[in-house]
Amino acid sequence: MTINLNDTALLDSVAAKVDQLKTLLKKIASEFSPAVFANSLGAEDMVLTDLIDGSGIAIEIFSLDTGRLPLETYTLMAKARLHYGLKFKHYYPRHDLLEAYTDAHGINAFYESVELRQSCCFIRKVEPLRRALAGKKAWITGMRAQQSQAREGLAVQSYDEANGLEKFNPLADWSEKEIWAYIKLHNVPYNDLHDKFYPSIGCAPCTRAITPAEDIRSGRWWWELADGKECGLHVKKA
Ligand code: ADX
Ligand code: SF4
Repeated sequence: MTINLNDTALLDSVAAKVDQLKTLLKKIASEFSPAVFANSLGAEDMVLTDLIDGSGIAIEIFSLDTGRLPLETYTLMAKARLHYGLKFKHYYPRHDLLEAYTDAHGINAFYESVELRQSCCFIRKVEPLRRALAGKKAWITGMRAQQSQAREGLAVQSYDEANGLEKFNPLADWSEKEIWAYIKLHNVPYNDLHDKFYPSIGCAPCTRAITPAEDIRSGRWWWELADGKECGLHVKKA
């Protein structure tokens, strides 16, 4: 995304949001310890990584390595570790569940039905997430309200009933422009795929490039109907 770093209104709004965010991160670290940050290595999550690193607070950073992430994401994982010198924890799918699934359905079964896609997401993302969140008081994500209709009205803080702990979305009211202004201003490392028309990046076989006219998340599970294209990491209990 092209950003005009002389746009003072943009820089002022980023500076104000950064101040609020730093205060919030300190509050999370002091009132909700142990807290963890779920880092997908997407643009938003790199902003949070940079701010967590800069504020020196005790918030563990973890990634769910599904085993099917794009090469560019693995390259960034390695680069971020060197750049920040932070510990990044990785959670993996349970091999017994994954072997049973691929034995029964094959390696790319997610294209065959929504059910098989959701069970792949369950094994590769949701079950490992449960282990990552076990015993924690809060988790932090990089979700923004403007990313999709399903995320409209996203709260900065709420109780995550599905996982039984507090959930923080500190970037809920940030725009895509503000994210990129922060990245450019602070030379934050980011995924090469973002420069190739991938605004939202998940697993390699389930993410594709989009055209400028399409919604941010339209490249995710593009073969499914537009409604509710979520992997199960962020479900709300009815
Ligand atoms: S998803 O639910 O469709 O996969 P999305 O890619 O928009 O979500 O990411 C939203 C937030 O979920 C990220 O900012 C991050 O906090 C968390 N998240 C998604 N994928 C991962 C991952 N592989 N590892 C850790 N956190 C993740
Ligand atoms: Fe499986 Fe695709 Fe979900 Fe990744 S995004 S866990 S490959 S279905």
